[in-house]
Amino acid sequence: MIRLIVLLQLVGLALAGPISVTTVAPARCPDGFSLLNDITCVKLLETPRLYQDALNSCKNFDGGNLASVKSEMVASLFFELCLTFIFEENSFLVNLAAVKNSVHPIWLGLICYSSANSSCNWADATGTTAGYSNFARGNPKSSSGNNVYLLTAGSSSGKWVSADGNVVTLNYFCEVPATGVETPCPNEFNESCYIYNQTLLSEADARISCQNQFFGELVSIHSQEENDHVQALIRNTSLVRIGVRTNGVGMYWDDGSYFDFNNFASFRPDTENCSAMQILQGSVDPGKWLSDSCDEKIGFVCKRLKGHSSRSPNPGPTFNPNNCYGTHYFSGQGEIVSPNYPNSYFGMGTPCTYIFTVPSNQIAQIKFRVLKLDDQSTISLYTGIEGTVPIIELTGSTSAGSGSYSSGSNVLKMVFKNEKRKYDATTKWSANYGWNL
Ligand SMILES: *[C@@H]1O[C@H](CO)[C@@H](O)[C@H](O)[C@H]1NC(C)=O
Ligand SMILES: *[C@@H]1O[C@H](CO)[C@@H](O)[C@H](O)[C@H]1NC(C)=O
Ligand SMILES: *[C@@H]1O[C@H](CO)[C@@H](O)[C@H](O)[C@H]1NC(C)=O
Ligand SMILES: *[C@@H]1O[C@H](CO)[C@@H](O)[C@H](O)[C@H]1NC(C)=O
Ligand SMILES: *[C@@H]1O[C@H](CO)[C@@H](O)[C@H](O)[C@H]1NC(C)=O
Repeated sequence: MIRLIVLLQLVGLALAGPISVTTVAPARCPDGFSLLNDITCVKLLETPRLYQDALNSCKNFDGGNLASVKSEMVASLFFELCLTFIFEENSFLVNLAAVKNSVHPIWLGLICYSSANSSCNWADATGTTAGYSNFARGNPKSSSGNNVYLLTAGSSSGKWVSADGNVVTLNYFCEVPATGVETPCPNEFNESCYIYNQTLLSEADARISCQNQFFGELVSIHSQEENDHVQALIRNTSLVRIGVRTNGVGMYWDDGSYFDFNNFASFRPDTENCSAMQILQGSVDPGKWLSDSCDEKIGFVCKRLKGHSSRSPNPGPTFNPNNCYGTHYFSGQGEIVSPNYPNSYFGMGTPCTYIFTVPSNQIAQIKFRVLKLDDQSTISLYTGIEGTVPIIELTGSTSAGSGSYSSGSNVLKMVFKNEKRKYDATTKWSANYGWNL
């Protein structure tokens, strides 16, 4: 059920005096799609299809897939009218069906290989249902089939049920990425994230850009499938930079990974030159690699492991905590404070997302020196950039005066949300980030 919370207190306060409200460009969806969470749009398709046909139909949309339900995470949208909608993704889908008067079950993009919830994989490659699921009692049930639908009517409305997508035809939800937002793990493949940057740069500058803008390295490629994946990201250019070099003895990848797949068109790449992948037909076939001057300014592909970052620490940027809406990146060690510190964070725009990166052989940590949250505010800590299941969620009643927390990797993500319902002059926090704290 969508809970609609009208912030009467806030409206009252807003009328009583000036209040600072940060407005942001919201994520947008294509026509007919609704925003499911910060990064995904969904649409109900009311032409019953077998599972695979439904999946193929969704893939006709740009970046499309059958919909997944990542978590019961609460998403909130802040409108100028001071209305805050708080909803769960699963309930949002049920509601979307109700709005269309659809009482029929609807395919989710989920395949289960056994009757264990950990064997169910989302079609959009965002993981399994081990962390969050909403199966009806006795499900998933592999004897009923490998596919899963969502019930949208009756007392089990919202529950997930196994069925055989080779014989059952149902309506289905398609999802596409929202525009105007950065997807956390773009172009995911085999637990890595990739980005094609069209900026024309020399090899040295491209390497720095991958490290600083993407927290990765120039792409390394380890199989024909991965090569195809990278090639498919790029269109309409002749060459694109990849991160392989040779020293005359062996070949090596910039990201330090093992050279276990060779796609050079010639047997003898140049020792003084860098490398590129041919895209449009040229001196070698598309997809093949060739030597290319390190100084030539061309587009490039960056890669990083999902949830990790290879970024080497350097002093973080100057940060104005009052302007925290969105994502802010920090590396190395430093200090961070709540918006409007040392005054209360009340009324400042959130959520604020902070990504802390430490050297790749260290564990990222945060240590609070001051921590006074009210019941309406939360600080959630996650392992990695794409983490969706918090390591811990701190809020008014559970947050101690201080504390030290560790990521499971060299990257720690922290999301601060302030629901702005209650004024309390003492609410604020300050912390050190880094490692070995
Ligand atoms: C997944 O199944 C296990 C074992 O049956 C259960 O303990 C766990 O709560 C389930 N997880 C979810 C998210 O439903
Ligand atoms: C592409 O590289 C340029 C130059 O480093 C950088 O400003 C830009 O943010 C990069 N784009 C992406 C999407 O990483
Ligand atoms: C996926 O990654 C694993 C581990 O790095 C590797 O062994 C495997 O070959 C990769 N698969 C493909 C298709 O690239
Ligand atoms: C391809 O690139 C050329 C110039 O590099 C440009 O003129 C042309 O419009 C592009 N075509 C497409 C389909 O993007
Ligand atoms: C390096 O590559 C360029 C083409 O980009 C080529 O003209 C040059 O001969 C190569 N240098 C060496 C030493 O092979």
